[in-house]
Formats: sequence, structure tokens, C-alpha cells
Amino acid sequence: MISPENCKVREFAPGSPERKSVEAEIEHQRLNPRDIDPVINGKRIQMDHRTRIFEPHAHARTLGTFGSAGAREAQLAVDAANAARREWGNLPASARRAVFIRAANLLEGPFNDRLMAATMLGQSKTFYQAEIDASAELVDFLRLNVAFSERLEEWQPSSEGSERNRLELRPLDGFVFAASPFNFTAIAGNLCLAPALMGNTVVWKPSERSMLSAAFIMDLFEAAGLPPGVINMLPTSDPAAVGDVVLADRHLAGVHFTGSTGTFDHIWRTVGKNISAYAAYPRLVGETGGKDFIFAHASADVDALVTALIRGAFDYQGQKCSAASRAYIPRSLFKEVCERLHAEVSKIRYGDVTDGTNFMGAVIDERSFDQCSNFLAYADKTSGHKLIAGAAPDRGEGYFVPPTVIACESATSKLMTDEIFGPILALYAYEDADIEQALEIVDSSTPYALTGAIFASDPAVIDRLSKRLRFAAGNFYINDKPTGAVVGRQPFGGSRRSGTNDKAGSPYNLMRWASPRTVKEQF
Ligand code: SER
Repeated sequence: MISPENCKVREFAPGSPERKSVEAEIEHQRLNPRDIDPVINGKRIQMDHRTRIFEPHAHARTLGTFGSAGAREAQLAVDAANAARREWGNLPASARRAVFIRAANLLEGPFNDRLMAATMLGQSKTFYQAEIDASAELVDFLRLNVAFSERLEEWQPSSEGSERNRLELRPLDGFVFAASPFNFTAIAGNLCLAPALMGNTVVWKPSERSMLSAAFIMDLFEAAGLPPGVINMLPTSDPAAVGDVVLADRHLAGVHFTGSTGTFDHIWRTVGKNISAYAAYPRLVGETGGKDFIFAHASADVDALVTALIRGAFDYQGQKCSAASRAYIPRSLFKEVCERLHAEVSKIRYGDVTDGTNFMGAVIDERSFDQCSNFLAYADKTSGHKLIAGAAPDRGEGYFVPPTVIACESATSKLMTDEIFGPILALYAYEDADIEQALEIVDSSTPYALTGAIFASDPAVIDRLSKRLRFAAGNFYINDKPTGAVVGRQPFGGSRRSGTNDKAGSPYNLMRWASPRTVKEQF
């Protein structure tokens, strides 16, 4: 049994060997733009229609291009996944595990710099953010899921008398469609590897906004010895054309999705429309939107609270489904918290992530920049919003949205209720005496329930708040920021309109990719 320990996170101090090594790879990737194409049954299919890949913090710099898959390539990928699934699914589980252990070893070896550099350049992550994502978290998903899959086989039904019972963990009877987001390289890898580890074949549509790291993930799986056809990658600038073909196939057996609530709704509707055409009911597993909260009680430790607000809201430019986006502060602490945020947030450096001195990079692209700018313009021109910290967004060299804190007079301002997915934190002061009313607002003013955090020092208060907010978040943090779940330590996922809560990084997620067969044998 492999020991399920988490990958150690390194320092990346200036001049350190690990830093120099990633810097050399950054230089290499900048000098060698990469042309990425669909990978179907182990073969690259060269496409004519191409989309430019750029650095979000320096958008004039080109990292390469990707060739856009359409309906034809989607059908070829589905056919390849269907053709490969019996052989892959019939392999001993240990042979499949060996592939992903090799991938973990390669990611701790030669692939580490490649995946980190691609994530920094293509997704504008700092050394620190890229390390915890493309390196540590993806290694954890690989190693810990292998360990979880072994443990799942340990439980067996009981047998009586002359009967012998057993449970076989078969794969699903079809292929899985994985659709991944731009913001986490590790999530993209995990959406593919979890179903594949359990014996399924996969058609993978990576986000068109993070194609560079996706291409390196595909290289990693291939270098680890994944057979052709097991994971088929479809880069595309026309996701609807690909999705329509994949979701219509008779052998669609599951969807592993992370992305917007709207897109997941569309997947459910399409699957519903096609339901009688499928050979088996597809499993739909999704992690979607969030409007994650921090709720402070008057007994909160203000230092810890301010740190959590800043890290929770601005790590990776707030582009995390878990990002702290709305905070409820008691009137008795509000002035102090605003002053501290003004002082600290004004000092945050942002810019090119590769120079190693900036805490933040750019948002992913123009669409994201415009979304954030629209929220800021709304706050600027609508009464009841006060800027605590922030500056004007600037798209000159990169898509830079400065870290911004806005105090809202109304708890129903759209800054307090809508997902922004950028570095904008909305604050609301509640009256200390009206705490019950404030908790009701936390619980019911958004459709989401992904992550949330409370800050209080009194154990009885912590207990009361935890019970009151029981259904407000799938990942609930006490005296810590609501981001940064570690695989195997804080299994990740939320409910309500935030997803199906199938807990990435846990055995529960893996079970969604197994269709057990009960066998009773009579002697
Ligand atoms: N797992 C990430 C976090 O917890 C979000 O996807 O921040």
C-alpha cells in the first residue's frame, strides 16, 4: 500500500536551484512557441483553424497556437474512447495504477518544470501559485487517488454458509466526458485521471483559455505509458460543437466537469433530452460556481481575519471557485478591518508573474478583464458602494485588475451576491445585535454553497455558527481562509448550485467512476 502523504511544497527562493530550473524552462517555452492539436487515439490531428495562445500578463507575447477540434474530431475521439474501453477496463487495476504512479514520478522529475512554467506563462500564476497547483496538487491527485483506489477494493460484502459474495469494481459501461476549467492545472489533470484510474476511457475538452498546460498534461500521461485512446484531448474554440457530439453518443457513461453553473445546467439539459438514447444512465459529476463567504464574529482575531480576507480574495487574482468574495464584518470591528485592508491591499504588488516579486498576475483574458471592469464600473456609479482599496484596471500590457475591496451598504448589492471570479472583495457591516439576521443573509442571499469561513474565538459561538451555516458551504473553514483545499486533507466540493459535491481528492469521487458488480457464488 502506498503511503498517502502529501507532496512537499518547496520555497522557490530567488537563486535557489528549483527556481533557476523553472526560469530556464520559462525561457525555453518563450523561445519555442508550441502548436497544439487534438490528440485522438495517440495521434495528433493537425488542424487548419488555429487560435493564438498568449501570456495574460504580457498579452503581446505569443506562446503558441492550438488547432480547434470540431464535430468531426469530436466523433473520432468518441470512437477512439469507445474502441479502447474494453481493453483498458479489463486490465488488472494494478496495471492502471502503475501508469499514474509513473506519471507522479515524472511530474516530480523532468515534467515538473514544464508544467510549472506552462502554468505560470499561460495562466499567469506566480511561482508559489504554480507550485501548489501544477506541481504539488497534481502529484497529490495522482498518488492519493491511487492509494484511495486500492482501499476501495478492501471492503467486501460478508458471506454465509456455502455462499461466497464479492463486489467487483468495474468501470462504467461507456466512456467519460471530462471538461476542465482554466484556473487549475491540477483540476484539469484530475478530471481525466480519476475516471481513467478506475478503468474508464475519456474524451477530454480542456479549457481553451489554458491550452498550454493542458498540452503538457497530455504529454505527461503519454510519457507515463497511458495506452492510445484512453484519454483523447480535444482543444477547441467551439466548445458547443464538440459538446453536442460527445453528449449525444449512446455510450456516454459519465461527465466529470468543473466550470460555470450555466454550462453545467446546459450539460444536464442536453443529457436529459438524450436520456432514452443512452445505453446506461450517465453519471453527472460537477463542480460549478461559488460566492464564497467569510463571516466574522465580534470575538474574531482581527490579524487572522485580515490575512484570510487578503489571501482568500486575492491569491491567484481571485480566480478560484473557492475565492473569498463576500465578507460580513460586525460593526464593532468594521472600521478597524477597513483600515487594515486599505493599508495592506494598497501594498500588494501585481505584474509579470515570472519576475518573482509580484504577489499577483493578470486575469486570464479580455473577457475576464471586462467582467471585472463591469462590476467595478457598477460599484463606481451606483450609490451605496465605497472603495476601501483598489485602482483602475489596466489592459495596456496585460489584463491587470488591481486587488480591490468595496464596502457595500446593502447585503443584496450584486457585488455581495454575484460570482465575479476576479480580485474583488465585497464587505458588508452587520449590526452586532442583528447577528441572526446576518447569518440568514449569508445562508440565503446567493444560490451557491461551495466554500465559506467563520472567524470567532469563543468555542460556543463557533459551534453555533457552524450549525447555523451547515448547508451554506461544502468546504467550511473555522478561523482560516476558505481556499487552498489540500488533496486528501480537505476533500473539495459544494452543493446547491455549486455542484454535485462529489468531493474531488477523496474515495467518494472515485466511486462515481465505478459501477460495482455483486457476485454471489454457491458452493
Ligand atoms: N481546490 C481549490 C481551493 O480549495 C479550488 O478549486 O482553493
